[in-house]
Amino acid sequence: MLLRPLEMAQEMVRGAVESGETVVDATLGNGNDALFLAKLVGEQGKVLGFDVQQEAVDASCSKLAEAGFSGDAFQFNCVGHELLGEFTEGPLAAVMFNLGYLPRADKAVITTAETTLPALEQALSLLRVKGVLTVMCYPGHEGGGAEAEAVLQWASHLARDEARVMRYGMLNAPNCPPFLVAVEKVK
Ligand SMILES: C[S@@+](CC[C@H](N)C(=O)[O-])C[C@H]1O[C@@H](n2cnc3c(N)ncnc32)[C@H](O)[C@@H]1O
Repeated sequence: MLLRPLEMAQEMVRGAVESGETVVDATLGNGNDALFLAKLVGEQGKVLGFDVQQEAVDASCSKLAEAGFSGDAFQFNCVGHELLGEFTEGPLAAVMFNLGYLPRADKAVITTAETTLPALEQALSLLRVKGVLTVMCYPGHEGGGAEAEAVLQWASHLARDEARVMRYGMLNAPNCPPFLVAVEKVK
């Protein structure tokens, strides 16, 4: 069975991350990716999370607490991911970006290339060798196309001896379907 782009992102992250490592959810939203990451790294690991909306941070904290994780296992910040480098020196095993807007919330609050690209640069520099960076891009909403294009430009120009870069998404779907950009750090 073919995986959806987000499922593919999870497969790639699952293959890269070991229990006890530090990982990042760069766009917390409802905390689904954060919970997925917390289950991978466990109580001995750490999930750092970022979102500019307090409701997203609160929802994500509640989700992990309800799943039984203690406050030691995660640190969620109501801060833009472009400040990632101020919160950790790494090394990071995985960083997940899920761009766009928070479903069922203010659709005016969207990620933009202006902050996404600096965040991607920092994430890549903090990643350990064989660590994975995943970026779910949503070109279908206003502003999403420009951001998705900027992510593609950034990723496709990474040096081949430093990073392996993949793109994955549905080809025969209407209305600019979402796609995944994934980067594995080589050295
Ligand atoms: C598609 S949602 C994320 C979905 C989430 N990963 C989940 O599992 O539910 C995108 C999120 O990015 C957040 N966001 C927007 N600009 C941001 C920024 N500069 N830094 C971090 N998060 C940002 C939005 O507030 C929104 O919650």
